Amino acid sequence: STALAGQQSRFAFTPIAAQTDSTVHVPEGYSWKTLVSWGDPLFSDAPAFDPETGVPTEGSDRVFGENTDGMELFLIGDRQVLVVNSEYTNNKLNLAGNAEGVPASADEVRRLQQFQGVNILEIAEQADGWKVVVDSPFNRRIHHNTPMRISGPAAGHALLKTAEDPSGTASLGTFNNCGSGKTPWGTYLTCEENFNGYFGATAEVPADDALRAGYKRYGISTEIEPGRYNYHGFDARFDVSKTPNEPHRAGYVVEIDPADPSSTPVKRTALGRFKHENAECVIAADGRVVVYLGDDERGEFLYKWVSRDIYVPGGDTSTLLDEGVLHVARFNDDQTGSWIALTEDSTGMPAAEIAVFTRMAASKVGATTMDRPEWVAVNPVSIEAYCCLTNNSRRGVRNEDGTMRTNAGGDAMGVNAVNRREKNDYGQIVRWRPARNDHATNVFEWDLYVMAGNPAVHAEGPMAGSANVNDGNLFNSPDGMAIDSTGLIWIQTDGDDSNEGDFAGMGNNQMLAGDPVSGELHRFLTGPNGCEVTGLCWSADRRTMFVGIQHPGKGFPDAEGLPRSSIVAVKRDDNALVG
Ligand code: FEO
Ligand code: CA
Ligand code: CA
Ligand code: CA
Repeated sequence: STALAGQQSRFAFTPIAAQTDSTVHVPEGYSWKTLVSWGDPLFSDAPAFDPETGVPTEGSDRVFGENTDGMELFLIGDRQVLVVNSEYTNNKLNLAGNAEGVPASADEVRRLQQFQGVNILEIAEQADGWKVVVDSPFNRRIHHNTPMRISGPAAGHALLKTAEDPSGTASLGTFNNCGSGKTPWGTYLTCEENFNGYFGATAEVPADDALRAGYKRYGISTEIEPGRYNYHGFDARFDVSKTPNEPHRAGYVVEIDPADPSSTPVKRTALGRFKHENAECVIAADGRVVVYLGDDERGEFLYKWVSRDIYVPGGDTSTLLDEGVLHVARFNDDQTGSWIALTEDSTGMPAAEIAVFTRMAASKVGATTMDRPEWVAVNPVSIEAYCCLTNNSRRGVRNEDGTMRTNAGGDAMGVNAVNRREKNDYGQIVRWRPARNDHATNVFEWDLYVMAGNPAVHAEGPMAGSANVNDGNLFNSPDGMAIDSTGLIWIQTDGDDSNEGDFAGMGNNQMLAGDPVSGELHRFLTGPNGCEVTGLCWSADRRTMFVGIQHPGKGFPDAEGLPRSSIVAVKRDDNALVG
């Protein structure tokens, strides 16, 4: 049975200690089991996973992909369908026999391309736990070569046209799918984050100033070298000297209908192009759709998109995410803030260019450079939202000439009230409450819900963290986040798990639960060493929580063989609700 931490406590568990081992820990009275790991078959014709060599190229699009990240559960009829991102690949694990981990053939490129993207899998609870329903008609793999439709203001623009697709509306693949979102109309939003890493050059790129400025701001390499993925060595689509516009076709939020396995995913350019973390949807007071969006880069921005049209349950939602206005956040030091609309008037840029070069548009309106905005979560029981600002090693750092470090667009990264620490290794979570209790309004008040820190190492000052951080709940680098139906905040970390120096006592990456009112934070789960904990959703009956374990070190989930990114199912032993 579980001990309640106190009469007034929101927490139905006893917090656990930090851990440094190679497994998952949950509180007394709870248990966990692996649901699915990288390489497990989604279809019965898939090759078996080899503990030493993984999965061959043929069949790599028939198994659960690598590096699980954002996920959402959909109830389709009486079927429970999990939609899960596979963010990136650990090439040395995926390319057996290739010691460098840099693809050396078209076959190796294709294997990596097929281990990433999105997984759609039906799951069902059996007497011995949750299982993948192999061969379910809902099962589907979406990867780096899956046909996509491009919609919204950038669709068909010259910047998106290529020799293969002169229409600028039909691309292949979704890339570096990090966090997720779920619309009220039952679709999945997958967020393209570090898409820049898949491009490279085999020759000099055209000396086009606008093109080069965009590459610089988005980190697209024009160096003639293999890079990490070397897609461009074998696939001209990723070679910017041959296909200079291909990078303009990635970096979006992509909408997927899990109920229709034959549907084409849609890149919603209205939601902007940047290193998208997640896409948190909420319906405003008047029925418009509000989507909060983080750009995970040091000194980049936090965004909000507001639809033009209202959401009508049961109505046509096929173009709802195509028309609306992107806004970018300004946080004032007096704990007020505003959302600044990115329009032709405010930026001097046409709508299509705002959609493609969103970062440049945001730089024109005086937005606040942030400490890497990761997941945003909206509280379903209170009109407020939270964003994990994971860390920023360059905040407040000066160049040799004494000027302040900037983002790639030249916006300075000096300290301010919301990003208040130099060389911020720990991260913080900001919370805002929109005026008039309406997520569509453009003014808000904000505070810091928590500033991570280490009071055991730094007795005082900002590195000690906020008052709700103590020896029992030390953590760094908040990243994934979701708020359950009762209003409890679940916070996942992707930080330094050395357990030394500034990070002593923090242990492995973990998941904590936070009370939004008292600020109390209790450690609920610890991951295996080397991993990041990312991705969280619940079964339809809320008696199981699914938690993602990304890039674990050796020893997980099996003591022997390759380490495998996995999703674990966590339940209470008495089968009570877990959120
Ligand atoms: Fe893929 Fe910002 O995490
Ligand atoms: Ca993340
Ligand atoms: Ca992170
Ligand atoms: Ca990650």
